[in-house]
Parts: sequence; C-alpha cells; structure tokens
Amino acid sequence: MNEQQRKESTQVNPSDKKSDKDYSQYFQAVYMPPSLKDAKKRGKEEVKYDGFSIPEEYRAMGQGKKFYIRTYGCQMNEHDTEVMAGIFMALGYEPTDGVEDANVILLNTCAIRENAENKVFGELGHLKTLKKRRPDLLLGVCGCMSQEESVVNRILKVHPFVDMIFGTHNIHRLPSILHEAYMSKEMVVEVWSKEGDVIENLPKVRKGNIKAWVNIMYGCDKFCTYCIVPYTRGKERSRRPEEIIQEVRHLASQGYKEITLLGQNVNAYGKDFEDIEYGLAHLMDEISKIDIPRLRFTTSHPRDFDDHLIEVLAKGGNLLDHIHLPVQSGSTDILKIMARKYSREHYLDLVRKIKEAMPNASLTTDIIVGFPNETEEQFEETLSLYREVEFDSAYTFIYSPREGTPAAKMEDNVPMEVKKERLQRLNALVNETSAKKLKEYEGKTVDVLVEGESKNNPDVLAGYTEKSKLVNFKAPKSSIGQIVKVKITKAKTWTLNGEMVEEAVEVN
Ligand code: SAH
Ligand code: SF4
Ligand code: F3S
Repeated sequence: MNEQQRKESTQVNPSDKKSDKDYSQYFQAVYMPPSLKDAKKRGKEEVKYDGFSIPEEYRAMGQGKKFYIRTYGCQMNEHDTEVMAGIFMALGYEPTDGVEDANVILLNTCAIRENAENKVFGELGHLKTLKKRRPDLLLGVCGCMSQEESVVNRILKVHPFVDMIFGTHNIHRLPSILHEAYMSKEMVVEVWSKEGDVIENLPKVRKGNIKAWVNIMYGCDKFCTYCIVPYTRGKERSRRPEEIIQEVRHLASQGYKEITLLGQNVNAYGKDFEDIEYGLAHLMDEISKIDIPRLRFTTSHPRDFDDHLIEVLAKGGNLLDHIHLPVQSGSTDILKIMARKYSREHYLDLVRKIKEAMPNASLTTDIIVGFPNETEEQFEETLSLYREVEFDSAYTFIYSPREGTPAAKMEDNVPMEVKKERLQRLNALVNETSAKKLKEYEGKTVDVLVEGESKNNPDVLAGYTEKSKLVNFKAPKSSIGQIVKVKITKAKTWTLNGEMVEEAVEVN
C-alpha cells in the first residue's frame, strides 16, 4: 500500500450510517474496505524488505497504560501477537492478564472456520458491557477476520463500539493506528487487502523463554478450494535466510531450547527468491549447525516436500523427526476438487520415503470430513489411509464453507448429521491409534523438554518429547527449561505419565 492509498484508508463514523444502502454508498466514497477479490490477485511486483522503527512522537504513548491481546487461530497468529506485544511495550504500555484493567484490548482473530469466527463475535458481545462501563477503553479487532469485507461490515453494523480494525498486512502500523484511534471518536479502519513489504526488526515479546517461533515466510499461494488463508495472508513471501539465521542465533544465545520455523506452506520457502537457489532444505541444513537443542517446522505441504529436505532431516541431530503433514483426505477425487495437487498415491509414496529415511519419524496430520459431496466410499478411503500411515495424531474438522472461496460455491448434498457421524468415526480411529502408539512408550526412557507445571496439578511438571508427546512427571522445579530423561510409567490416550531418571541431558 502506498502513501496515497494509506491516506485514503479511513476513519468511519458509525453514527453516519443511516441504512444499509446509505452505509455502502458512504463506503464507496471514502472507504477502502478489505477486498477478498483484490486479495486473491497475485502480482509480479517484487517483494521489498523494510525495517521497523517507532516514530519519536509515539514513544510515550502507552505510559501508565496496559494492553491485553486475546489470540485465536494458528501459530502464525500467536506469533503476530508476540510482535504486537513487542510494539506495545516499545510504546511504553505494560501487559496485563485480563480485560478488566486493560486500557487497550485487541482480538487477534482467525477466519479458518465458521466456529472460529463465531467465538470472536461472541466475545465482542461480552466486551460491549465493558466498553459501556469504560468508554475510554480502546477496543481493536485484527488478524485474519479483519481481512474479510463481510466481517468488517458486520462489525460496523452490529458492534459499532469497536474503535479500530486493522489487518494482517499492517500490524507494523499499530503505533499510528493507535494514535488515530486516540485522536478520533470514529472507528479507525485500516485493512490492506494486498500484502505489503516484508518488515524486519519487529520488536517481539515472546511467550516464555523456552520455546520460540520464527517466521520464515508469510502468505500462501496454494489456494486449496476450501481455504481462506491465501486471501487473508496474501502471496508467499520468504524472509531472507540471513535474517532468519540471525534471529535463530540470537534466540540460541538467549538460552531458548526449541525453535519452530513457521509458515503456512514452509516447503515453498525460497521459491520466490530470484537471485538465489535456496529452499527449506538449505535453510534447515544451515540452522541445524546453530547450537540450539531442538528445531521444528510447520506446516508442510505434501506437494512441495522434496527429497533434499528428507535427506537433510534424516541427518537428525537437533532436527526433530516429527513431521506435521496435512493430508486433508484419503480420496484422490476429493483431493482433486480441494485443489491439493497431489493424489492419495503421491501422499503414501512420500510417507514411505520419509519412513525409509527416518524409521522412527512420527507423523501427524490435518483432515477435513464432509467436503461437498464426499461419498461414504471416499470417506472410507480417508479411514484406510489413516490406518495405513498410522499417524500419531490428527486435527480433524468438519468442512466449513468460507465465503469467497471456490468450494463455498459448490453444491453440497451431504447432510450435517452424516458429516458429524463421519467426524465421530474418524475421531474414534484417531484416538485408538494414538492410544496404541503411546502404549509402546511404556517402560521406555525419553528426552523431555520441561515447560512448567502441569495445568491440572502444580505438583507435577509437564513437557514434550521430541515427537511432541505431552509427558507429566514428578521432578524438581529446577528442571523447568531443561531437557531431562523421563521413564514412561503409564500411557493414556493423549498423554504419558513418567518419572524423571536423569537431569539435564546435553544435546549436540
Ligand atoms: N497451511 C496448512 C493449513 C492451515 S489451516 C496446510 O495446508 O497444511 C489448518 C487446517 O484447517 C487445514 O489443514 C485444514 O485441515 C483446516 N481447514 C482449512 N480450511 C478449512 C475449512 N474451510 N473447513 C474446515 N477445515 C478447514
Ligand atoms: Fe490453506 Fe491450502 Fe494454503 Fe494450507 S496450503 S493455508 S490449506 S490454501
Ligand atoms: Fe486462522 Fe489466519 Fe491462522 S485464518 S488458521 S489465524 S492464518
């Protein structure tokens, strides 16, 4: 977005709205709403790289004030929240754990399924009372939902007490968006439909000091027919390897134990570089040399997962052999109308190659049931693929139509009861397989990165194995943040219980 467009983007006074008709005319004149149609376009323009700094005049903005951010959705959103928290802190705000004493509240939203959106609208309903009680409170909506025009219109109509809406492409503009919101009584709406530059040097306040996320790329160009992400996150843009490596080195020097490299389709990393031949395998290979005990990445797309990456991962060391490899369906026909661009056979072949190179690798996946017109036979192909791969676990979803995506226009003859019943059958298989896989751990000793007290019992510590299994065990609090050896005593459906047998394992 250029300066001109930025100026055109707007402040809307909800009280100016008389009827829906007036309201839309109002927008046409002065408002630059998010447009899914524009967001779909993929231009050839070069990605620019820019730095971040806070203008002098905003540096004291947050003095004596507190911020609260509620995050919905995926790790990318979680990480965006860390960036926004960093910006708030740089502006002098302090964090708070609840909405009650916050001066600014942000909802960092997710648009992936209808129920994700409903949660946010429900929360806005709750916050209305708080806002009435404390009119000076600033309330903002950001994240993926803000990128949808229907959402912005609904907020303007139903929740006009919201003070600011901004999108995923301009979170670095938070200081001036806040400034505008303070200065005007009107709702500030600044959503860029098209991605901007890749912004470096963003401040971050990370959640915890044990595990960290590092963005390696933004956006997605896959356009799976059911998915809203390519519209809400823009085209694929990779961060330069030297920036990523520098960030990981810095995290290592700060004592972080585990890094997860993030992107919606990390296997496409580097495909947009014009000056260098450099992909995820090169990046993993280089980062693996950094002294950090654990290195993961997410999310992989089966189509772009290449042999070079398998070769690099097979070297092991700090590269963990847990791969999240969303399959979505076991039916080639359904995969075709999902535009996943691989077949059942391709996926199984990839799994075979991964298992050959890394016999102990654990695989997890995402599955959608009840895609438009999915037949019983096609659904059973998903079950049979699940059995064949023997995934360690899976995130399973009922298909949710997303406005503006091709699948939303497909007629669908599968009744909701059938979809629900399929989800139940799939979940039964997922649970059964997980329990069986965890059972094999009983009596074995595993390395666990200790994250803290268990949620349900403060006398027990909790941490994750290399394969992302949650382990609860008794150990001294001093082991928090360390990798320790734990002997597994009991397997449950989703978690393991154990006893610590040895402290602080040195990795590398
Ligand atoms: N980039 C990742 C997925 C990100 S979204 C990938 O391609 O693997 C996380 C998961 O949400 C997807 O894998 C898919 O299983 C699910 N999902 C996405 N859109 C959905 C929709 N419209 N309805 C139901 N589930 C959906
Ligand atoms: Fe969505 Fe497909 Fe991109 Fe994943 S790869 S974010 S499912 S469009
Ligand atoms: Fe949701 Fe946006 Fe992530 S739609 S899943 S928060 S990229």
